[in-house]
Amino acid sequence: MIEFRQLNIEDKHYFNEMARLLKEAFEDYHDEKETIKELETMLQEDQIIIVALKASTVIGFIGAQRQYKQTGYELHPLVVKEAYRFNGIGKALVSRLEEAVLKRGGIMLYLGTDDEDYKTSLSQVDLFEDPFTAIKTIENYKNHPYSFYLKQGYKIVGVMPDANGLRKPDIMMAKRLIPFK
Ligand SMILES: CC(C)(COP(=O)(O)OP(=O)(O)OC[C@H]1O[C@@H](n2cnc3c(N)ncnc32)[C@H](O)[C@@H]1OP(=O)(O)O)[C@@H](O)C(=O)NCCC(=O)NCCS
Repeated sequence: MIEFRQLNIEDKHYFNEMARLLKEAFEDYHDEKETIKELETMLQEDQIIIVALKASTVIGFIGAQRQYKQTGYELHPLVVKEAYRFNGIGKALVSRLEEAVLKRGGIMLYLGTDDEDYKTSLSQVDLFEDPFTAIKTIENYKNHPYSFYLKQGYKIVGVMPDANGLRKPDIMMAKRLIPFK
């Protein structure tokens, strides 16, 4: 059975496992000690972290921090252990995070999802020429996670061309969490 739990400052014992998960999934998180410091700061600054636990072991987690004027939150990071992917855990983490953000008065979640390995059609065109058409006609070549977020109701609201190097954009996505009246 998988259990979901929102962490508080007493839950530091999960940080080693969380740092390892990030290291497995992202090159930028190669230094586990630095990652643990970052996680500690996240909790001290009252950000949201929710873990997915199987037999008390962390198999995924999601975070968010308040930005803008209190109501816009940035979703970061999100990771599910490779062996457990495509089982609905990512979806469940996003949904629980949305509930937690709403409880704190947030109304919008956004994120940037990088294309650093030419996984989408956005890496094939000059995004400075016509970013809007490139977004409208985006194609997923190799399981880029933007498709995962589309399924959770997030929209592509922009691109940051060359954010990670030439032809390596950041794809900006967002979701409104309340009705539009
Ligand atoms: C992205 C990630 C969190 C998804 O987690 P997951 O637990 O595998 O996702 P789920 O099983 O909840 O998937 C929900 C839906 O999205 C789809 N999906 C999941 N990952 C996908 C991907 N990479 N590409 C396309 N579709 C994907 C699933 O097939 C499922 O579709 P369905 O509802 O039609 O059945 C996971 O692949 C991961 O940790 N990746 C590495 C880290 C990463 O890229 N994080 C995001 C950085 S912005």
